[in-house]
Amino acid sequence: MRPWAGVIAAYRDRLALPEGTPDCTLLEGNTPLVPSVALQRSLPGNLAIFFKYEGLNPTGSFKDRGMVVAFARALARKARVCLCASTGNTAASAAAYAARSGLRCIVLLPEGSIARGKLAQAAMHGATIVSISGPFDNAMRMAQELVRQRPEIELVNSVNPFRIEGQKTAAFEISDTLGDAPDFHFLPVGNAGNITAYWKGYREYADAGRIARLPRMVGFQAAGAAPIVEGRVIPDPQTVASAIRIGNPASWKGALAAASDSGGWFGSVTDDEILDAYQFLAREEGLFVEPASAAGVAGLRKVAAQGRIPPGSHIVITLTGHGLKDPDMAARVAAPKPISIGPTLAELVHAIEG
Ligand code: F0G
Repeated sequence: MRPWAGVIAAYRDRLALPEGTPDCTLLEGNTPLVPSVALQRSLPGNLAIFFKYEGLNPTGSFKDRGMVVAFARALARKARVCLCASTGNTAASAAAYAARSGLRCIVLLPEGSIARGKLAQAAMHGATIVSISGPFDNAMRMAQELVRQRPEIELVNSVNPFRIEGQKTAAFEISDTLGDAPDFHFLPVGNAGNITAYWKGYREYADAGRIARLPRMVGFQAAGAAPIVEGRVIPDPQTVASAIRIGNPASWKGALAAASDSGGWFGSVTDDEILDAYQFLAREEGLFVEPASAAGVAGLRKVAAQGRIPPGSHIVITLTGHGLKDPDMAARVAAPKPISIGPTLAELVHAIEG
C-alpha cells in the first residue's frame, strides 16, 4: 500500500488542475469515517450512521482539503500574498498553508467572536490578523473589495473555485469507504461552500460510475444565523457556534441547488440543541468536536424524531472541526473541576469513591 500523500496526489485526475500545478500538501484528507454507536442506538429505525471526522485534518478542520488546492493554484500563478475572511478555521488553515508555501497571509476576522484555538493557530503560523467590527459578512465583503482593488492578492475563501475542488474530495473518500454514497448526508452550513463541494463530489463520482446512487443533502444552520432557511439576509447573526455565525453566505446559490437537486432540504437547530449534541458526541461517542460541528447531529436528531428518515437509511454526518479549537466553550459546558489531593493512595481512593 502506498502511504497517503494528500488529496491532490490521491485525486489529481478528478481535480480541475492544470498540468504541472505544484503540490504544497500537509497530508490533509484520508480522515476516518467513524461508525456511530450511541447516536444510532438512541434513534429509532435501525439507521446506519457514520461520522466523517474532519477534525483530524492537519489544522483540525475540513478547510485543509480545499486550502491545499487553492494554494497549489496560488503557487502556480506565483502569488506572494493570500487573503481570507474567516470565522476562524479558514484563517487557521490558510495561515498554515501560507507558512508551508512561503506566502504572506492576511486574515480578516469578525471582532470578538473567534474561538481561542483558531486565533492561536493563525498567530502561530505568522498571519497578519485584522479584526473587523460586525459579523463575518463585513469581513467577507471587505476581502472581496480588497482583491478587486489588488488583483495580485490570492483570495482563498470558498468563492475561490479551487477551494470547492479540494473540498469535494471528502465525498470521494466517503463513497470509496462505503462502496456507494449514503442515503442522506447531514452537515452544518455557514458560508455554504462545503455543502456545495460535497454535492459536486457526489455528482462527479456518479457521472464517473463510481457510485450507483446520490445522497439527499441536508444542511443545518443555527437558528439565530439561518439566512438560507429563512430566505433572507440576517444582518446580525447570533449563535454559540461561532464558526457558522454568518448572515449572508457567499455560496448561497450552490447550497440551495445542492439541497433541491438532491431531494434534500435545509433546517435550523437552536443553540441548546447544538450544545446538547456537542456534549452527546463527546460523552457518548467519544468524539470531541467544536460546537458548529455538532449542528448536523442536532439536525438528524430533530428530523429523525419527526419521522422524516426511512428505517434502515445509511447516513453520513460531517463533523467539521476538532473540539480543541474552542476550549472556552468546552470549559463552559463541562466545567472541569479536578479533585485536588496529596500523593497518597488513601486520598486517591477517597477522591474516586467519595
Ligand atoms: N463547521 C465549521 C467548524 C466551520 O468552520 C465552518 C465554516 C462550517 C462548519 C460551515 O462550512 O462555510 O462551508 O458552510 N467556517 C468558515 C471559516 C466560514 O471561516 O472558517 P461552510
